[in-house]
Amino acid sequence: MSTKTFDVVVIGGGPGGYIAAIRAAQLGMNVACIDDWKNAAGGPAPGGTCTNVGCIPSKALLQSSEHYEHAAKHFGEHGISLSDLAIDVKKMVARKDQVVKQNNDGILYLFKKNKVAFFHGRGSFVKAADGGYEIAVDGAEKQSIVGKQVIVATGSSARPLPGVAFDEEKVLSNDGALRIGSVPKKLGVIGSGVIGLEMGSVWRRVGAEVTVLEAMPGFLPAADEQVAKEALKLLTRQGLKIEFGVKVGGVKVGKKGVTVSYTDAKDKAHELEVDKLIVSIGRVPNTVGLNVEAVGLKLDERGFVAVDDDCRTNLPGVWAVGDVVRGPMLAHKAEEEGVAVAERIAGQHGHVDFNLIPFVIYTSPEIAWVGQTEQALKAAGRAYKAGSFPFMANGRARALGDTSGFVKFLADAASDEILGVHIVGPLASELIAEACVAMAFRASAEDIARICHAHPSLSESMKEAALAVDKRTLNF
Ligand code: FAD
Ligand code: NAI
Repeated sequence: MSTKTFDVVVIGGGPGGYIAAIRAAQLGMNVACIDDWKNAAGGPAPGGTCTNVGCIPSKALLQSSEHYEHAAKHFGEHGISLSDLAIDVKKMVARKDQVVKQNNDGILYLFKKNKVAFFHGRGSFVKAADGGYEIAVDGAEKQSIVGKQVIVATGSSARPLPGVAFDEEKVLSNDGALRIGSVPKKLGVIGSGVIGLEMGSVWRRVGAEVTVLEAMPGFLPAADEQVAKEALKLLTRQGLKIEFGVKVGGVKVGKKGVTVSYTDAKDKAHELEVDKLIVSIGRVPNTVGLNVEAVGLKLDERGFVAVDDDCRTNLPGVWAVGDVVRGPMLAHKAEEEGVAVAERIAGQHGHVDFNLIPFVIYTSPEIAWVGQTEQALKAAGRAYKAGSFPFMANGRARALGDTSGFVKFLADAASDEILGVHIVGPLASELIAEACVAMAFRASAEDIARICHAHPSLSESMKEAALAVDKRTLNF
C-alpha cells in the first residue's frame, strides 16, 4: 500500500474533473485524477458521462440519423436519387463507439502531456490527514493517496422512475438509449427535456414511432416562450408525438415490451405499449460510495455537494464542481468551474459568469440561447426591446435548404445592452457563440448590427436580428 501526496487530487474524470486536473497541472501543481469509468474491455475510459454516455455519443448518433433523414427526405430536392437506402444501426452505433474511444484516448494523452497522474478506480474519502485528505482508490489494486486539496467532480446519473429500475434492455437510461441494437418499432420516452428530445429525434429519424410523455403542462419552460412554441411546432411536424400534463401511474415490463399506464391532462386513463422505454426525467448527483461521512463533507437537501458561489465546500481544501453541485448540468459549466477552482487553488481569481452559460439542444432545427428570456425580463419588470429575424429570409439558409426558425435579440430599452439571445434554427449551437462573446463584452445590439458578417452565412441572421431591435432589418 503506497501513500503518495499530491498538491491536488481530483475525484472524477468527466469534463469538470479532467479539465480541473489539467488546469491545475498547467499552474505547476502536482496533480492526480481518479476516475472509475470502464470501457467494454474493462480498461480506463476517462471523460465521464459527457464522453461515454452523454454529449459526445449523442451528437454522433444525431449526426448519423440526420444524414439518414436527409438522404431519405431531402436529397431528391438536390437532384440526388438513391435506391435501396437502408440504415445499419449496428454500424451507426459502432461508429459512435469509435468516436467515444477517440475522446477517451485523447484525455489519456492529455493527462500524460500535462503530467497528471491517472488512477483508474473508485475514489473515497478515508480521513483528514497530513494537512490534506487521504483518499482510497479501489481499482485493479487498492491504493491510498493524499491530496492537500481535493476537487470532487463525480458527476451525475440518470434518475429512475420510482420503483422502475433501468434494465438497459427495455427500460433505458441515457446509457441504453445510446446503444439500442435495432430500430424499435415503437419507442416511449418519459420526459420531454433535453435527453428526451435528442434521443427521441435520433430514433424517430431512423424509423421508430416515438411517443413522449411529459408531466409538465408546457414545453421547455426554461427556454424563451416564442422559441419553445416554434420548436414544438417544428418537432411535432417531423412526427415526434408529445403529450403534456401526463401522470405516469405504472410501468410493466413484459417479454415483448413495456406498458406504461398514465393519465392525460384531463385525467383520462391510457396505456401506451412500446418496444422500449427511455426514461429521461432528470439526473441525480453521484455521491454514493464517496464516504463523505468520514470527513464530514456536507450535502444539500437535494443530495448535491453543498458549495458556495466559488465551489468551496464546508471543508477547508475540499472543492466540488460540475453536475455534483448546484446549477445547470452542462459539460461546459462543469469545465468552467473546474478551471476556476484550479486557478483559485493557485491563488488566482478564477471566475464563472453564470448568466453567460449557453444552452443548446441538438435537435433539428437546433435550439440555443444565452442570457435572459423575454418572460424573465417581463417578470423582473425590466424595460427591453426585442428584435427577430427569420432564417427564411437568409440566403445561406435557403441554399442549405434549412429555413426553419429565427434569431431573437433582447436588449435593454435604454442602454441597448444585449440581455439575451434566443435561436431556433440551423447550427444554432455555433451561432450562439457570437452572442456569448458579445454579452461577455457587454455589447449593445447596435454593436452587432454594425459589425461586418460574411455573406452568405447564417451569421448574417444574428446581425439582422440585432438590426431588428432598432426596427431596421435590411433583408426582411
Ligand atoms: P461526469 O461527466 O458525470 O463525470 C464524472 C465522472 O466521475 C464519471 O466518469 C464517473 O464515473 C466518475 N466517478 C463518480 N464517482 C466516482 C468515484 N467515487 N471515484 C472515481 N470516479 C468517480 N452537456 C452539454 O453541455 N452538452 C451536451 O450536448 C450534453 N449532452 C448530454 C447528453 C446526454 C445523453 C447526457 C446524459 C448528458 C449530456 N450533457 C450535455 C450533460 C453532461 O454530460 C454533464 O453535464 C457533464 O458530463 C458533467 O460533467 P462532470 O464532470 O460534472 O460529471
Ligand atoms: P431534463 O431536466 O432536461 O428534462 C426532464 C423532463 O422530464 C422535464 O421536462 C420534466 O418535467 C419531465 N419529468 C420529470 N419527471 C417526470 C415524470 N415522472 N413523468 C413525466 N415527465 C417527467 O432532464 P433530462 O432530459 O433527463 O436531461 C438531464 C440533464 O442532462 C439535463 O438537465 C441537461 O442539463 C443535460 N443534457 C444536456 C444536453 C445538452 O446540453 N444538449 C443534452 C442532454 C442532456
